[in-house]
Formats: sequence, structure tokens, C-alpha cells
Amino acid sequence: MNFHILTLFPEMVMQGLHTSILGKAAEKEYISIEAVNIRDYTTDKHGKVDDYTYGGGAGMLMQAQPVYDAYQAVVRAIREKSAGSATVANPPRVIYMTPQGRVFHQELAKELAKETDLIFLCGHYEGIDERVLEEIVTDYVSIGDYVLTGGELPAMVMIDAIARLVPGVLHNGDSALSESFHNDLLEYPQYSRPEIWRDKRVPAILLSGNHAKVDEWRLEQSIERTKKWRPDLYEKWKARQK
Ligand code: ADE
Repeated sequence: MNFHILTLFPEMVMQGLHTSILGKAAEKEYISIEAVNIRDYTTDKHGKVDDYTYGGGAGMLMQAQPVYDAYQAVVRAIREKSAGSATVANPPRVIYMTPQGRVFHQELAKELAKETDLIFLCGHYEGIDERVLEEIVTDYVSIGDYVLTGGELPAMVMIDAIARLVPGVLHNGDSALSESFHNDLLEYPQYSRPEIWRDKRVPAILLSGNHAKVDEWRLEQSIERTKKWRPDLYEKWKARQK
């Protein structure tokens, strides 16, 4: 799975995404992460990529030309790479990170994890000229109802959530089945050594060796936790049980 990030701050996303699990996954080539500096594509001789907004208003807007040219360069590179393969690749989905988009969730992560290439477009300042968005964006996505200074952190959040679903990235293939949001339930509490810490004991059932009982206990805990912390999810889960 190949992630392409169009950004004015490539070092920010490259550093963040080449650490820990994703860094190892990239080394082993389960995923690739490439940041493309939009500024490299401006035709402005001073390297400018933004300008004032028509109609007035505070702040600067990223201009259409450098964004479009950076996008085209990425698409060209993807096409060239797949030129030898038998199947003609569809144009890749282009995800624009914006607080105006639909809110990201685990189901969308699963859907996007099936793609071969994904392009993330990160805006900065007051955003990006609408005309280039209309031209290239397929998905408008927000990571929550708050406003950040740019799309880089949201893109990193999405890439992390998607990449960990790509086969091979996580060592334990099972963990995606038990984790939070699977089945609309939050994950159960977990414990490691020692058996007693500050007078707190690990629940006895987990030491019993009875896997059926352990599974039952974990499901109960998941349900309890979801009811208490995420009543909205709990209602969804309950409705699905009927
Ligand atoms: N850009 C600024 N805020 C954002 C958010 N909440 N989600 C996605 N992109 C953003």
C-alpha cells in the first residue's frame, strides 16, 4: 500500500510516520510513505504558493496551480510504476483533510486499507483554492470537530489507522479482531506482570487457563466499558444484537 502526501511540510509527516511500527513496515516494504512538497511545483519565481483571498477576509489561501501540478506529478509516477502490470489502475482516491469533511472512523479506515495508492492533500493557512479541490478531490475527511492549523496531523492520524490494517504491518493478525470498535465495542481491560501491583490483583479468571471463561469475561467487560464510556456505541451494539 502506497501513501502519497501532498504537503508544504514534508519533513513533519516523514519524521512522524517513519517511527516505530510504521517505520518498520516501510523498511519491510509492506507500505511506502512519500511526501511531496507542493512548493517544489510552483511556477512562481519566488517560490510562492499562497495569496490573498478574493472578496477579502483574513489570511492567505493556497493557490490552485502548485497543488494541481504536484498532484499530477504523483499520478504520473503511479501510472509509470503500474505500466507493466496487466490491470489498468483506476485513478487513486484523493483525500483532502478538512474540518468540513465527514468524520473519520474505523469503517472508513478498513475501506481505504483495500486501496493500492492513496493521495492525502494537506492544506495550510486558510485552506486551498476551491477550483483545484473540485478538480482532484474524491473524499473530504475530518478527524473530529475541532480546527487544527493544517492537514498534516490529520493525514498522519489517518495513515496510521489505515496502515496498521495492511497485512503484515502488525505482527499479531488477531489484534485487529479484539481491539476497540470491532463489533461496536470498546476493548476489554488488559493486565501484564506482576500478578499484584500496589495491592491490586489481576482478575483471577485471567489466571485460570480456562479460555472459554476468559473470552466470556472479556466480552462482559467490553460491554460494561462501552455502556459506561461510549453510550452511543453501546446503543448501536445493542440494536445489532436483536
Ligand atoms: N484541518 C484542520 N482541522 C482539521 C480537522 N479537524 N480534520 C481534518 N483536517 C483538518
